[in-house]
Amino acid sequence: MTNKIAKPFLKWAGGKTQLISDIQKALPKDISEEKLTYIEPFIGSGAVFFWMLNNFPKLKKAVINDINEDLINTYQTIASRPIELISILEILQNEFHALEDREDNKKLYYYEKRDLYNTRKEEQSKQAALFIFLNRTCFNGLYRVNRKNEYNVPMGSYKKPTICDKENILAVSMALQKAEILCGDFEQTLEYAANNSLFYFDPPYKPLSETSSFNSYAKDEFNDNEQIRLKNFCSKLDTLNHTWILSNSDVKGRDVNNNFFDDLYADFNIQRVDARRNINANPEKRGSLKELLITNQTNIQKYVRAI
Ligand SMILES: C[S@@+](CC[C@H](N)C(=O)[O-])C[C@H]1O[C@@H](n2cnc3c(N)ncnc32)[C@H](O)[C@@H]1O
Repeated sequence: MTNKIAKPFLKWAGGKTQLISDIQKALPKDISEEKLTYIEPFIGSGAVFFWMLNNFPKLKKAVINDINEDLINTYQTIASRPIELISILEILQNEFHALEDREDNKKLYYYEKRDLYNTRKEEQSKQAALFIFLNRTCFNGLYRVNRKNEYNVPMGSYKKPTICDKENILAVSMALQKAEILCGDFEQTLEYAANNSLFYFDPPYKPLSETSSFNSYAKDEFNDNEQIRLKNFCSKLDTLNHTWILSNSDVKGRDVNNNFFDDLYADFNIQRVDARRNINANPEKRGSLKELLITNQTNIQKYVRAI
């Protein structure tokens, strides 16, 4: 048992910790948590989800989803087999820390575990432990796979990274008991909605330029057609009286003539908010860009037009 507050157990591209206060302001004013179903179709590391669970502890139900099978396997393992997972993580952590400053040996160990992970033949909790191990020890906490779904991120340069955060895994496991954990396309979450559900969407962001692309979390690309399919899904939710909040990149901030999202979501409420990116390897490029927060609610700060 643990009294600790559950927090994200992974580093993940686009982690939303720095956007939370803006998301909080965009929440419906009349949340009745005992009746609310909260749905997050692109869960990633779940920063907003954990924040919601901690701030609305009486939430009736939560539904989380992601297309990344290895990620969802890890959530499911934490929910159902936390003790087993912790014991494997402890071994990985002890072995990795024992290598200390011997960089070559650390590398050998890392690539051996990466190869093992890529066989995807280990049983569920071992596979989940390897997923967490790689996330904690790899370069910048990236998750990137090639077309064959092989994880291909090199080792990072952390001295003694925490690989087994036992207290947090137990806290996350408890928090997940009220969540339905799904793996698949975002559209399937609608089947799990109750009356007036609240959806938060954090899809892979549209790249700010052709080369700045970092949206390869999974083997299939999330291109403009996917962004349009997501907007159509949001319109459908609106018709069905669900509330939604969505974040995405502000492509207009980079190119004033780029009205992709302004046109796509013209019927909804678009705000521009500050957000720091934290997955860029180059610290200079982590600067303060704007991001979009779009919602189908009308009672929040009105659309701020050009910048
Ligand atoms: C930007 S990340 C989410 C970040 C997360 N909210 C956080 O705070 O860390 C986008 C996620 O969408 C997932 N994804 C990509 N295409 C998807 C699809 N069609 N349906 C559901 N999830 C998808 C990716 O695997 C990735 O985990």
